[in-house]
Amino acid sequence: MIKNDLFLRALRGEEVSRPPVWMMRQAGRYLPEFMALKEKYDFFTRCRTPELAAEITVQPIRIVKPDAAILFSDILVIPQAMNIDVEMKPGVGPWVPKPIRSAADVEQVIVPDIDETLGYVMDAIRLTKEMLNNEVPLIGFAGSPWTILCYAVEGKGSKSFDTAKSFCFSQPEAAHVLLQKITDTTIAYLKEKVKTGVDAVQIFDSWGGMLSPEDYHTFSWPYINQIVEALEPMTEVIVFGKGCWFALDTMAKSKASALGVDWTCSPEIARNLTGGNITLQGNFDPSRLFTPIPELKKMVHTMIDRFGKDKYVVNLGHGILPTVPVDHAKAFIEAVKEYEGK
Ligand code: CP3
Repeated sequence: MIKNDLFLRALRGEEVSRPPVWMMRQAGRYLPEFMALKEKYDFFTRCRTPELAAEITVQPIRIVKPDAAILFSDILVIPQAMNIDVEMKPGVGPWVPKPIRSAADVEQVIVPDIDETLGYVMDAIRLTKEMLNNEVPLIGFAGSPWTILCYAVEGKGSKSFDTAKSFCFSQPEAAHVLLQKITDTTIAYLKEKVKTGVDAVQIFDSWGGMLSPEDYHTFSWPYINQIVEALEPMTEVIVFGKGCWFALDTMAKSKASALGVDWTCSPEIARNLTGGNITLQGNFDPSRLFTPIPELKKMVHTMIDRFGKDKYVVNLGHGILPTVPVDHAKAFIEAVKEYEGK
C-alpha cells in the first residue's frame, strides 16, 4: 500500500482533503543535485543506468516533496528501441542522424522485443520502487505516437515541425504505418512498465498542438486512444496534449482517467469542454514560478479554487524551466499542501 495515495485517489475521482501536486519535468536541470550528475554522465547514460535513473527520480521527492514521482527517462528511448538512432546533443537537444523520410525508411523501423531493448527501464523502475519505499506513487510515461513521429521525421526539435507534417500530408500511408508501429511498441512498453511496478502512466503529446483539429483526429488522437484502451484495464492513464484544448471534449469521452491542460486554457473552459466529470491536471504557466513567493502561493490557491479541489491534480501547464529557483519550486508544492483546511 502506498502511504500518500492522494494522487491515485484524485485520478480515480475520489474525494480528497486537498488536491495532489507534482511537476512535469520535476527531475531536471533546476536542481543542483541533478546538475552534479549531468556533469559526470551524458544524457542516455543517465537513462540507461538504473542506479542513476532511480537516484534522479527520487531527488525531487527529497528536495521539493511532490505527491508523486515520475521515472527519469525520456520519450525518445522508444524510437531508439525501434532502430532509429537518437542522440542528445548538448546545447541542441534531440538529434536523429538518419531521419525517416520515405516508405522504405519506415520499413526499416522495427517493433522490438521490450525486455531485450528496454529492460534497463524496468530495472530502473524496480530500483526506484525500492528507494521510494511506498511513500508516493511512481508515474511511468511515453510520448504520443505523433510526438515521437515528429522527432523521427523532423530529426530534431522544431518550432513548427513542418517536415514531419509534410511527411504526413504527402505520404499518409507511410505515416500511418509508422504511427501504428510506434503505437504497438508503446503499448507493449507501457504494459511492461505497469507489470514492473509503475502506479499510473502519462502520455505526453507535446506537439499535438501543431496539428489542426482535423489533422489531430487523423494523425494523433486515434493512436493515443489505442494506447488508452489497451492500458486502461491495468492502470490509470493521463493524457497531456500541449496546445490540444480543442480535443479535450473528445478526450473526455475516452477511458483516460485524467487529462492534462496547458496554461492557455482557463480552468472554466477546460471543465466546460470536458463536462465536469473527468480529473484534470495542470495548468500553472511554468514562467509564473518566477513570481515572488507570497503572490505565487496566492495564485496557486486561486487556481485550485477555479478547478475545484476534487477531480484535480495540481501541476504546471508544461515542464519546469531550468532557471527556476529551487525555493520557488518548493513554494509551488507547499502552497498546495497549505490549501488543506482553507
Ligand atoms: O521529471 C520528469 O518529468 C521525468 C523526466 C523526463 C525527461 N524527458 C527528462 C529529460 C520526461 C517526462 C521527458 C519527456 C520528454 N522528452 C518530452 C515530453 C515532455 C515535454 O516536455 O513536452 C519531450 C518532448 C522529450 C524530448 C526531449 N528530451 C527534449 C525536447 C529534451 C530537451 C533538450 C534540451 O537540451 O533542452 C530532452 C532532454 C531531457 N529529457 C532533459 C531531461 C531532464 C534535459 C537534458 C539533460 O538532462 O541532459
